[in-house]
Amino acid sequence: MHIRPKTLRQRLMSSPIATAVKRVRYGRFSTLQKATEGMLSPAVYRHIYRTALSAPDLDTIEVGGAGGTGSIAFAWAKIDGGMSSRHIVVEKLEGGSRRRYGGYEDNLDRFTRHLADFGALDRVRLFPHHLTRENGGELLELVETPRIAGFMSDADGRIDRDFALFLPMLDPAGFIIVDDYHPTRSWKQALVYRLLNRFIEWKLFVVGEQLSSTVFGRPHPEADVSRIDPAACAEILESIRVDFGFAPDSTEVALYLS
Ligand SMILES: C[S@@+](CC[C@H](N)C(=O)[O-])C[C@H]1O[C@@H](n2cnc3c(N)ncnc32)[C@H](O)[C@@H]1O
Repeated sequence: MHIRPKTLRQRLMSSPIATAVKRVRYGRFSTLQKATEGMLSPAVYRHIYRTALSAPDLDTIEVGGAGGTGSIAFAWAKIDGGMSSRHIVVEKLEGGSRRRYGGYEDNLDRFTRHLADFGALDRVRLFPHHLTRENGGELLELVETPRIAGFMSDADGRIDRDFALFLPMLDPAGFIIVDDYHPTRSWKQALVYRLLNRFIEWKLFVVGEQLSSTVFGRPHPEADVSRIDPAACAEILESIRVDFGFAPDSTEVALYLS
């Protein structure tokens, strides 16, 4: 397997001094991020925790759980907030960024071990599959509260699928977190950037804070999922294919919204 050498910035950020500074500044979120090799920064995990802590006591959903770092931050918020709701995590557990940790069973063990190590196991339910339009209904069956308090999209860039599935269930006082919002860094980030900008125009999403490429926001008060236009989403996917030479199959967009 080819492993890219670290950039100077990455080397500085992982130096012993930088690690000590982060530990003082972000406390348990820094320890968590390091121990579980979280893909986001301790600052982002702390903000996820704070967002979930101030949300209604309703189930939450995260698409793209990786090694469980964000899932633990969500679970901590529910535990510390005295909530009874649970956090539902979608993770396919193989391929892509999971390959470096082995196959499906290795990733499942790793995810479960991290949750157990950080006291989050009984607050999280895992949907251990590749999320598609076809199995989206099965995922929603895991929700045990009348609505959801929020969702986080951090998987394959297909936020059109996630908005279409989850927006109708979202509490008006809830939150939406979207990672990978950047215009040019990769096809996935550009896809998220173009789709989310369109969702803002369509009055589905209101931006709150942005930490690096993670956007924290809430549903628009007039949010209506029928305003997601499959043809416009397909055009955006096609624009990514043209600009980057790759994008997931645009015919899926119509399926997700049908
Ligand atoms: C960037 S990582 C998520 C990082 C994670 N939120 C964290 O806190 O460290 C993206 C993850 O999404 C998963 N993934 C991508 N597409 C998916 C899909 N359609 N269904 C389920 N999981 C998916 C990948 O396996 C990967 O682990």
